[in-house]
Amino acid sequence: MPGIVVIGTQWGDEGKGKVTDYLAERSDMVVRYQGGSNAGHTVWIAGQRFALHLVPTGIFYRETRCVMGNGMVIDPVAFAEELDYLHARGVSTENLYLSDRAHLVFPYHQALDEVAEQGLGTDKIGTTLRGIGPAYMDKAARTGIRVADLFEPRRFANLLHRNVEEKNRLLRELYHREGFDEAAIRTQYLDLAERMRPFVTDTSVLVNEALDAGETVLFEGAQGTMLDIDHGTYPYVTASNPVAGGVCIGAGVGPTRIETVIGVVKAYTTRVGDGPFPTELNDPIGDQIREVGHEYGTTTGRPRRVGWLDTVVVRHAARVSGVSALAITLLDVLSGLDEVRVCTAYELDGKRVEHLPASLEQLQQCQPVYETLPGWKEPLDEIRDYRELPQEAKQYLQTIERTCGIPVAILSAGPDRTQTFQLREVPGFGKSHR
Ligand code: GDP
Ligand code: IMO
Ligand code: MG
Repeated sequence: MPGIVVIGTQWGDEGKGKVTDYLAERSDMVVRYQGGSNAGHTVWIAGQRFALHLVPTGIFYRETRCVMGNGMVIDPVAFAEELDYLHARGVSTENLYLSDRAHLVFPYHQALDEVAEQGLGTDKIGTTLRGIGPAYMDKAARTGIRVADLFEPRRFANLLHRNVEEKNRLLRELYHREGFDEAAIRTQYLDLAERMRPFVTDTSVLVNEALDAGETVLFEGAQGTMLDIDHGTYPYVTASNPVAGGVCIGAGVGPTRIETVIGVVKAYTTRVGDGPFPTELNDPIGDQIREVGHEYGTTTGRPRRVGWLDTVVVRHAARVSGVSALAITLLDVLSGLDEVRVCTAYELDGKRVEHLPASLEQLQQCQPVYETLPGWKEPLDEIRDYRELPQEAKQYLQTIERTCGIPVAILSAGPDRTQTFQLREVPGFGKSHR
């Protein structure tokens, strides 16, 4: 013990990578438990930008073991590319582990992701086109192929044959696309298996042994609560469970092992795909926040949709994951605005709505109820202590704490690793300060 979870409370890209990196220095292990290369987690270290998609954001600390759990879906091509990228930049992957139970992403998953999106037309989800949804579909259909299967070549060949045959029929007959060459995929994946082999193990055993030994284990969520397949804005979601409950399934640990959940909250809201977004700003303020915050996707480069902070969303996330402390990120981006707004509830048909409705039609119609606060002009990127913050920025943080009913433990005011500080004790980490 303890197990500490870092989750995104909004639509992803809250700065989970940065917060995980900050906490990883004091952790023995960092574990990804869901998602795949749809994730893009950015860290800036000494003026250098690193973007991770599959590898946990603990990899920059040599002593910290990094685990890719069974709940992930692994694209071996993306994995090999990420290894090359890290090695080329002098980052060791000696302490990296990959679950033998994780499912694999194949080229036909990416093709199916694309045709499904095209078929939806204006109702498209706006996926990352990484094949994530179709890979989880195969997992649920019991036709998926797991990492362990790569090391039993005959079994792998049989499973692949069945899959390629089915997917090619779908692609050719339903979508009028070209099919895939089964032999080419088999050769390519068996080659890639050799790159994966040194990392592969039963990661549930590894993680539980660490917890038994009293080590600090950090679970790094990808995506965010509003993209959770159960608790998000379905169907405009990803295909996994980013919420804290996903840790138990996706890392193979029991709920009794989780001590703390830290909810990462961007100081405003962004969303990169399609779907409802009550506080969206389609105006010059939204444009200003997008430009100052460099709000373009880490994985796809798409411009992110931008809006005011929505605490209905954050409270929803806090409830479904049992969040005990917040990490507020990108507060610096709001510097220079005359006023800042926090959505505290919605109004629907003249009634106040405190909880996120399941019906997307209702959510589309919800009008945000705002608390408007004075802005601040000072840049925040040099700030390293709460006391140095402008009064208005303090008031903004206090408003978040009050409307969410959760303390803010970590503040990030700039992309660099050093631009992060603790406001109060981070639960699970005792009083230690970096
Ligand atoms: P993640 O997916 O939750 O890890 O977040 P991303 O890395 O996709 O997106 C967050 C973006 O904001 C990245 O470009 C980070 O470098 C950047 N970032 C993180 N924290 C801060 C911050 O406090 N201030 C600023 N200006 N940028 C930040
Ligand atoms: P990180 O971990 C933001 C979004 C896509 C789309 C929906 C489904 O960096 O926060 P998918 O490819 O998963 O089937 O797409 O989810 N999405 C993300 N948005 N950050 C992410 O990851 C995302 N991963 C998926 O844009 O709306
Ligand atoms: Mg991201």
